[in-house]
Amino acid sequence: MIRNIIDNIIADKSYSIEDLSLVLQCNDDDRKYLFKKSQEIKEKYVGKKVYFRGLIEYSNICAKNCYYCGIRRDNKTLERYTMTNDEVIEAAMFAYKNRYGSIVIQSGEISSPAFTENITHLLTQIKKLSNAELGITLSLGEQNEKTYKQWYEAGAHRYLLRIETSNKEHYQKIHPNDDLHSYENRVNMLNLLKKLNYQVGTGVMIGLPFQTYENLAADLMFMKEFDIHMCGMGPYIEHKDTPMYSWDIKLLPIKERYNLTLKMIAILRIMMKDINIASTTALQAIDPIGREKAITIGANIIMPNITPRKYRDKYFLYDNKPCADEEAEDCIRCLEMRIKYAGGEIGYNEWGDSKHFLNKLSHE
Ligand code: 5AD
Ligand code: SF4
Ligand code: FES
Repeated sequence: MIRNIIDNIIADKSYSIEDLSLVLQCNDDDRKYLFKKSQEIKEKYVGKKVYFRGLIEYSNICAKNCYYCGIRRDNKTLERYTMTNDEVIEAAMFAYKNRYGSIVIQSGEISSPAFTENITHLLTQIKKLSNAELGITLSLGEQNEKTYKQWYEAGAHRYLLRIETSNKEHYQKIHPNDDLHSYENRVNMLNLLKKLNYQVGTGVMIGLPFQTYENLAADLMFMKEFDIHMCGMGPYIEHKDTPMYSWDIKLLPIKERYNLTLKMIAILRIMMKDINIASTTALQAIDPIGREKAITIGANIIMPNITPRKYRDKYFLYDNKPCADEEAEDCIRCLEMRIKYAGGEIGYNEWGDSKHFLNKLSHE
């Protein structure tokens, strides 16, 4: 029965949210079958290559107050920082020299003109210093059209904005209920980014309070229907200085959130065969070889942290974040070994754009 559903998904025959929810709950032999198929599909459609995106955690200042996030505005236990432009450029050049191919600039959500204009300036500089060879993904939250456009023109070509959960009622439960945290706006932003020709990535957290299997199945359907180009999703991990931490709600055991994340990745891979899927750091916070597992069964993107070490312990979105004591050099060696172990190869010096995006372009 479960195998039939898996075969239907692979053949692009019709399947429902209920079907996906059943696959999400599968175990033992059915799960093995799912992972075997997702691995085959991955190798057939996107190959064995794993692409690097050097992650620069530019600033932990955030105007928002998401109930789950360690760098939310009202967390006063945190020392706030913004990297200097020299530090950002140095990190970008580190990625360039080490043949990473791409970087991601991420930060809390800030929309002051000083911030947005400085990002434009940094993009221009990084493009210039890398002979336009370094690909740049942004993950800087919700901004207005003018800003998104300006950043695209300055050289950013991919944007990550997680929907966090595709169910509006659920979204409202895990965020303050105000204009700053509007579900509609989130969806509008994803549409806007697409309209502006960005490769668009989204994703959800897995194992959140109030989340059901049907919710997660609907999240997968949302990504398929929105026709995303990239996905980054990971387990929800508690952070002690957030409101969600003290909610009296029974969560899935952490290992179960991890297992469910792997299934989400595998199912998304068979639903959307040629998209880019990130193996997120949060997986490694739970299992020391979590990211490798994700690569074996479907993910093809990894984001080595290249933020200077002095800032790393200040960008804790959740507790137990890995690589907090490592320098960027340490992560390279470590990842080379890890990816080999997972049966992959590193796509050095390549942008590793979403094949789904490129395939769409060539059919237009
Ligand atoms: N656990 C896991 N992921 C989290 N994020 C924020 N807080 C947490 C948490 N406690 C994720 C969100 C956000 C991304 C930058 O980090 O999905 O989009
Ligand atoms: Fe800010 Fe993003 Fe954290 Fe929300 S999840 S508080 S927007 S950094
Ligand atoms: Fe950072 Fe292994 S990836 S030390």
